[in-house]
Amino acid sequence: MRKSGFPHPSKDILQTRGAKLKEKRLVLCITGSVAAVKCPEIARQLMRCGAEVFAVLSPMAQKIIHPYLMEWATGNPVVTELTGGIEHVTLAGAQKEKADLILVAPATANTISKIALGVDDTTVTSVASTAFGSGTPIVIVPAMHESMYQHPVLEENIRKLKTLGVTFVGPRIEEGKAKIAGTEEIVEAVVSKFYACGDLAGTKILVTAGPTLEYLDPIRVITNKSSGLMGIEVAREALWRGAEVTVIFGPGTASPPEGARIIRVETTAEMYEAVISELKSRKYDAIVATAAAADWTPVKQYDYKVPTRKAPSLDVKLKATPKIIDVARRTSPQAFLVPFKAEYNVSDSELVERAFKRLKDSNADLIVANDIARKDVGFNVETNEVFIVDKKRRVIHISLRTKREVAKNLIDLIAAKVKAR
Ligand SMILES: Cc1cc2nc3c(=O)[nH]c(=O)nc-3n(C[C@H](O)[C@H](O)[C@H](O)COP(=O)(O)O)c2cc1C
Repeated sequence: MRKSGFPHPSKDILQTRGAKLKEKRLVLCITGSVAAVKCPEIARQLMRCGAEVFAVLSPMAQKIIHPYLMEWATGNPVVTELTGGIEHVTLAGAQKEKADLILVAPATANTISKIALGVDDTTVTSVASTAFGSGTPIVIVPAMHESMYQHPVLEENIRKLKTLGVTFVGPRIEEGKAKIAGTEEIVEAVVSKFYACGDLAGTKILVTAGPTLEYLDPIRVITNKSSGLMGIEVAREALWRGAEVTVIFGPGTASPPEGARIIRVETTAEMYEAVISELKSRKYDAIVATAAAADWTPVKQYDYKVPTRKAPSLDVKLKATPKIIDVARRTSPQAFLVPFKAEYNVSDSELVERAFKRLKDSNADLIVANDIARKDVGFNVETNEVFIVDKKRRVIHISLRTKREVAKNLIDLIAAKVKAR
């Protein structure tokens, strides 16, 4: 183990992905699952967000990955046994200097059940027991074969831990396994534990995201190429900052963030109804309507698969679908309303002009416009360039950058307005 007093070179990545976890000390407890191979990556992503990470390995974990690997990954000494240094108390005890969060990843069936029963017979279970007593938040990321995961006693123990305030992340059920959640999902879950008191704490935000589709017959649809990523990033950023977030999500391919309520819909009519029902059931502070809802629906929908051999052409008459923004404004006049508007191949000034007109017509508070004909902008890409226009026709241009960064800029504006109300 490292003894020199010089800084560990592995720490050169600290804060290279932002400072959301700056000054946070995280204990990464690793148990005897093959998914332990993911731990260096998990530790280093947490470090890139600014966290100091301290690894604790159960005896079985040490047969799967070597402690040197985690010492290299974190740049900190690794706990492999409990000694006269009472490492479990030093890390997670009730004293002033202690960890901010305990992350058990991967968590075996064995360790989860032992934590639920208050058994502490390994480095990891002793840290967890101590954390319960000191009120340190615990996040558990299970990984095991699906047959182990479906053990009724384990299920009961997970329910018990959830009622005790433990956050569970994943697993992903794939190939007969309850696989460890993705690294990004784990990092997000950790970050959102700290941002529950962020600048949007206590607010409720409704996001619509993704495309919708309109059926011509039971198998043919009219839709667009939206992945829903822009709305998902808005939801993710709002969650990170402590908002309670509901996403009404059409059939997009983007992965919704852990912690948001997701309402799945297919058609524009379903999205329209879901928006009304949500806005009637709870008081939202802001509505961010990023969804690329299909604007047209066939007047006639066939209830059989329309054959092509007998009639090689088919006349389809379309009618406009109802405007979700308008009903959102009528149902929730007090909410801060932010629609998105996509245009195709227009100049900047035309884009802003059309956006401002839509903002006035729908009595919105801000509008976000983009031109999806531009390179790397709009549907099914990870980047966006937008113009944000307010009621006084003031324009903020956000040049091409990741949708995550665009979402952050937008949530900065929304948070300032919502908090000022
Ligand atoms: C190669 C290998 C992989 C294992 N993977 C898992 C796993 O993914 N999940 C699990 O619950 N147990 C797994 N086990 C079984 C656990 O290691 C075993 O239950 C052990 O007692 C767990 O101890 P710990 O929870 O203290 O780390 C695995 C065992 C081996 C040898």
